[in-house]
Amino acid sequence: MNSTTLTKSDIDKLWQAAYLIRKAKYAVAFTGAGISVESGIPPFRGENGLWNTTDPIFLEIEFFRKKPLQSWIKIKEIFYDRLGDSKPNLAHSMLAKMEERSFIETVITQNIDHLHQKAGSKYVYELHGTYKQLICTECSSEYDISFANLDYLPPTCFVCKGILKPDMVFFNEPIPAFAKKRSFDEASKCDVMLIIGTNAEVLPAARIPEVAKENGAKIIEINIKPSHFTNTVTDVFLEMKATEAMKEIGRLLYL
Ligand code: APR
Repeated sequence: MNSTTLTKSDIDKLWQAAYLIRKAKYAVAFTGAGISVESGIPPFRGENGLWNTTDPIFLEIEFFRKKPLQSWIKIKEIFYDRLGDSKPNLAHSMLAKMEERSFIETVITQNIDHLHQKAGSKYVYELHGTYKQLICTECSSEYDISFANLDYLPPTCFVCKGILKPDMVFFNEPIPAFAKKRSFDEASKCDVMLIIGTNAEVLPAARIPEVAKENGAKIIEINIKPSHFTNTVTDVFLEMKATEAMKEIGRLLYL
């Protein structure tokens, strides 16, 4: 899609979105897997969704504890063999520029791919953790992924020989307290929330836009198709790809 194929309704909504962002006192972005699809990282659900072909059990915490090698083989294949070379796309870069120009204050992300930080965003709350860090299941020592040799699985701790786990939130694991507290604080404080590429299927993350709405925020949503938010909290729905919408919003904000 380029500007000539935008409908009049698209253009009106893009103007509305840019106006709300420009006028905002405290705008926050909330992102999901959809913002990284155009960086070549498949989403979890919907078209090409990871869970369409892969059983998520390998990311369930009890399964990991019982069968760490089986879990790590899948984790390495799906995350570490792919995410290392992944690059931020225009949507990530536009959010970083918007932070730099103070159009948004923070990014709350469900993604573990570190692409917001690679794009230059400084204030990022990772609700579901990050693939970039490993943590020891015995002594809680933390390592950057660059210290681990994933040719030998499962990776073990240099300090106590315990098994290392990616610092990502597994199913049936609690959300990191700091990221959770700060994300809900931001949601309560913002007067505009820009949601990009999330299906809103996973709690407590899916509560973030609802809390923003309950506190009077205007909600702008970018998604290629309606989500659970679209007919509940969303005020301006931009039914287009993340890079297309963010390119136009960037143009309207003179980024
Ligand atoms: N641009 C915008 N949105 C897109 C694009 C795109 N190019 N491609 C896909 N989408 C949308 C889909 O329509 C869908 O609504 O992104 C969303 C992706 O949904 P999910 O795959 O469910 O991702 P997400 O909502 O982030 O999942 C939340 O679920 O499995 C857990 O921990 C995992 O963090 C993840 C959480």
